[in-house]
Amino acid sequence: MLQGKKIILGITGSIAAYKAAYLTRALIKKGAEVQIVITPSGKEFITPVTLSALTGKPVISEFFTANDGTWHSHVDLGLWADAMVVAPATASTIAKMAHGVADNMLITTYLSAKAPVFVAPAMDLDMFAHPTTQHNLDLLRSYGNHIIEPGVGELASHLEGKGRMEEPDRIVAYLEDFFKNRQSLSGRKIIITAGPTYEKIDPVRFIGNYSSGKMGFALARCCAERGADVVLISGPVSLSTPHASIRRIDVETATQMYEVAMAEYPTADAAICCAAVADYAPAEYSDTKLKRSSDTRTIVLKPNKDIAAELGKTKRPGQYLAGFALETDNEADNAQGKMRRKNFDFIVMNSLQDAGAGFGGDTNKISIFKGDGTTVEYPVKPKNEVATDIIDTLSEYLSQ
Ligand code: CTP
Repeated sequence: MLQGKKIILGITGSIAAYKAAYLTRALIKKGAEVQIVITPSGKEFITPVTLSALTGKPVISEFFTANDGTWHSHVDLGLWADAMVVAPATASTIAKMAHGVADNMLITTYLSAKAPVFVAPAMDLDMFAHPTTQHNLDLLRSYGNHIIEPGVGELASHLEGKGRMEEPDRIVAYLEDFFKNRQSLSGRKIIITAGPTYEKIDPVRFIGNYSSGKMGFALARCCAERGADVVLISGPVSLSTPHASIRRIDVETATQMYEVAMAEYPTADAAICCAAVADYAPAEYSDTKLKRSSDTRTIVLKPNKDIAAELGKTKRPGQYLAGFALETDNEADNAQGKMRRKNFDFIVMNSLQDAGAGFGGDTNKISIFKGDGTTVEYPVKPKNEVATDIIDTLSEYLSQ
């Protein structure tokens, strides 16, 4: 999987920099071409001589090589790479990446890179757990970078905890998995509905819900990274499109979402209904802003179309359909009932009873119920990793 892949390995000032030498060797053994970019403090921990002996190339650290005046173009380097791996990534480099503080060659290269970026943090447990670091990692995730979680164990400080850079062999395995899956959905058209819908009451008011769209956007990104043609039908969210190849169609109401989904599904291989669609819309829309009055006010609601159920009615052999159930009680029965009613092949259930699950946050805890009666339960994970589990399940169906 890594044969011939051009990889920028960014090394920063952490004691774990010694592991970067093993990582370099492991990548080269797999046939990758490695260009090392090291920060000034990285050089305090491991010498460029060791690294360039392993890669057979000069290590880049400065914008200019002082002795021969060679200018290193971070733009060319960023475009050259098939992947950029920052390992070890210190709290400082993670912060600079998150906020675009481009004061060294590694960060300018990162900002220029079009390739997927993998970040393997390495630091003391308290630094890793600090809300600042966690927030910066969340920012990096939200930009589409892959965070290779550090391991738990003894740290350089002799404290025990989470912060050890992931082992080089595991990082290599992570990259191999990424490249293996990369084209696995090539030629497949997948529809994802995401976010809330807004049902208008008058020009300034609507009925909506708390859905952020993050889960649906993570699914769309995961499918796009595997080479699928993704149509992301999104209700009103404040998220940017997570992958350049995604065709995004923004809608506002359930009716608009229904129309787009029904038009796209006949030519699709699969759809995942992730949107939190309003089940009802105001029966009447007022063209003018409703005025306050001291009386109680009643808004009569009419039912919206159940998009998932309508897609389920048109599903043909070889086409797949999956959906979500966000439940507060009687979770398994409710979810399985929805799966049958809507003709889903599988349903992803999250319970508001579980910490770390549901709307708005960056994590989710899911169980997947399949049509054949089997269930898989997963631990709390970042939404990007949850998306990987869901798309792995969809891929199993698509390869049947
Ligand atoms: N769904 C949909 N269109 C709707 C309502 C729901 O496509 N009008 C989809 C959701 O995207 C989700 C699944 O159906 O994949 C279940 O949504 P949920 O709101 O949990 O189900 P409902 O059928 O609305 O049931 P209830 O609100 O009674 O729990």
